[in-house]
Amino acid sequence: MQGDRIDKIIDKYVNEEGVLIQLLLDIQHEFNWIPKEAVKRISERLKIPYSQIFRVASFYAALSLKPIGRHLIQVCLGTACHVRGGSKILDAVEDALEIKAGSTTGDRKFTLSGVNCLGCCAQGPMMMVDDDYYGGVRVTKVKKILEKYE
Ligand code: FES
Repeated sequence: MQGDRIDKIIDKYVNEEGVLIQLLLDIQHEFNWIPKEAVKRISERLKIPYSQIFRVASFYAALSLKPIGRHLIQVCLGTACHVRGGSKILDAVEDALEIKAGSTTGDRKFTLSGVNCLGCCAQGPMMMVDDDYYGGVRVTKVKKILEKYE
């Protein structure tokens, strides 16, 4: 049960001061995001205002208040990649996963995001899956790339 797992993590921090960030990182590590239920339980048990927990969780890039997939796909839409068809690559990934950029598949396998530059402009159009770079991507290659992470 999600609630039990949340409580078990909070148990480690009860009666301690200044532990909110570490606690949220532990929750993030366990669930890959910060579920609303966790914010509620932390607020109740550690007597920290709900709004303060949200502020901290929104501030730190390592914490996410939205579910994130196991694999993060980043498709470059920067100028150099755009002129080489970056937006068509993004369309192809969206079609393959049946989601729009900025969202996560229902099975939480993939999160898709369009980004401004991946730092390898000469090799565009570029995309990244987790830590793997793919350069010179063609629309016809997109499915094959994604299959590696199935
Ligand atoms: S513009 Fe795409 S990698 Fe820089």
